[in-house]
Amino acid sequence: MPAAIIAGTLMYDIPGMTLIDKSIDTPYGRTLVYEVQGAGPELIFLPRHGLQHDTPPHKINYRANLKALEMLDVKRVIAVNAVGSINKGVAPLDIVVVSDYLDFTSGRELSFFDGGDSGVKHVDMSTPYCSYLREQILALAPNYDIRIHPQGVYVCTNGPRLESPAEIRMYEKLGGDVVGMTGLPEAVLAKELDLCYASVSFSINWAAGFMDTIEFISDVEGLNRMQKNLMELLLKTIETTTDDECSIK
Ligand code: HPA
Repeated sequence: MPAAIIAGTLMYDIPGMTLIDKSIDTPYGRTLVYEVQGAGPELIFLPRHGLQHDTPPHKINYRANLKALEMLDVKRVIAVNAVGSINKGVAPLDIVVVSDYLDFTSGRELSFFDGGDSGVKHVDMSTPYCSYLREQILALAPNYDIRIHPQGVYVCTNGPRLESPAEIRMYEKLGGDVVGMTGLPEAVLAKELDLCYASVSFSINWAAGFMDTIEFISDVEGLNRMQKNLMELLLKTIETTTDDECSIK
């Protein structure tokens, strides 16, 4: 069965590979998905903002995206998110294998279980992200020239605005390590569909309050290098894992 990479800001392709449009209609709307040719293992690429980054975080059709993956028989999903750093130990260009989250989003369609025909179900989020995929990413990571943190709490804000310094101080006090706008409800919807879903964040800035203004990473070479290494790590993770071994079936 194919695996999938859901990519976000600053990741709109897989270098050296061909993307074939496989967009499909789901009960929740149409989803832009691509089959990746040249990756080795069967792979689906889903750019959650669209290839031109034309869908903002609060308008992404998360349910259609996850449903599309299920319809394509995907079981293993690695999501990539660009984030800001809240924790002083997580610098821009660092990568975090997310282990938990704080959800500050609102007004998003956040469940497949809406009552009526779709039923009511309360999914257990005690282990928010697939430990099997997380462990494999971390086992392979030393082979790549990246700075990677084995765990971290992802704070999801609604966007599209960035945060105020007081909001970031609050998130820091609550235990947040990185902040982004697209990690939720994606992780919850993946869990509702029983997908093996891991989330990997890469930081592109210090969050609000660290400096007078937000400064996104200007080291383009460093960013390209990190992204290339990260993508190679994720492809190797997909190549060396199977649907059957996933721990959260
Ligand atoms: N805040 C929210 N989302 C983000 C940030 C940030 O500082 N950087 C990248 N995505």
